[in-house]
Amino acid sequence: MAVRSSILGIDGPGPLAQGLRDAQYIADESLATAAYLALALGKPLLLEGAPGVGKTEAAKAIASVLGRELVRLQCYEGIDAAAAMYEWNFPRQMLAIRQAGDEHINLYADEFLIARPVLLALQAPRQRVLLIDEIDRADHEFEAFLLEFLSDFTVSIPERGTIRAGEPPVVVLTSNRTRELHEALRRRCVYHWIDYPAPELEAEIVMMRASTVAQDTARKVVAAVGGLRAEPLAKPPGVAETVEWAQAATLLNAQGAPWPRAFARAIGVALKDQDDLEFMVPRLDALLQEAVA
Ligand SMILES: Nc1ncnc2c1ncn2[C@@H]1O[C@H](COP(=O)(O)OP(=O)(O)OP(=O)(O)O)[C@@H](O)[C@H]1O
Ligand SMILES: [Mg+2]
Repeated sequence: MAVRSSILGIDGPGPLAQGLRDAQYIADESLATAAYLALALGKPLLLEGAPGVGKTEAAKAIASVLGRELVRLQCYEGIDAAAAMYEWNFPRQMLAIRQAGDEHINLYADEFLIARPVLLALQAPRQRVLLIDEIDRADHEFEAFLLEFLSDFTVSIPERGTIRAGEPPVVVLTSNRTRELHEALRRRCVYHWIDYPAPELEAEIVMMRASTVAQDTARKVVAAVGGLRAEPLAKPPGVAETVEWAQAATLLNAQGAPWPRAFARAIGVALKDQDDLEFMVPRLDALLQEAVA
């Protein structure tokens, strides 16, 4: 297996974690290790986890550490290879034919090619990071197509031939695990499950992302969110909700709402599902007393 011994001067999971931190992303050791190995081994990184645990943001931060542009392929039901790879600009081809008259024109020249994220990544593997976001939303056929691409990093354009990447592009895939991914796809990748961050790390994330929030408030909001995540909710709060809840409660507190009342009043930024709210409202005071005391 080709090992990229020095991946752009990053000498291990520790320095990578530091780089990610400089890019405003806090990775624990296991994530930093998985990301480092994926980069060093030239394999795609597959990140799975609950909504809002920082999967997409991890890919952005990795691109930023490498000093590369992130090209994102957002997956959805029904997404097809054209949306992922390339399309011919049909209206422009038609116009060119009309304008050309008797002259010969190459309808498959670059100017008619619309490169989509997969092709963009192949064309400049050293300048780009490919994010295949929420792969679990795509259907099995599309997953099979991606598997092929991830095996040999080539794209075949019938009118032009096969385009091969000079080196494997850096690829990050994310999944919310709404369905199981193919075993074969997993095998291609370095896999990492992102859990909710440990409380100290989540408090650090809050402080990093929301400068108005006091350290004590960050600790309290993290404890309260931990309490919410232990409840049987349809949509447990992600890290973004923790940050917003801390910001919103800080704002209300500055306007006179005492603690822990400020948290209760701002609950709408932490829970965004009516059933969850209905379930939690009668229990919220007790939860906050325990978490915030
Ligand atoms: N480890 C982290 N360090 C810094 N910020 C983080 C971290 N994890 C999450 N965040 C914050 O939480 C927000 C949500 O993260 P992100 O959008 O990456 O989650 P996700 O796992 O992709 O969620 P979804 O499944 O809903 O797409 C980010 O915009 C960022 O502000
Ligand atoms: Mg995401």
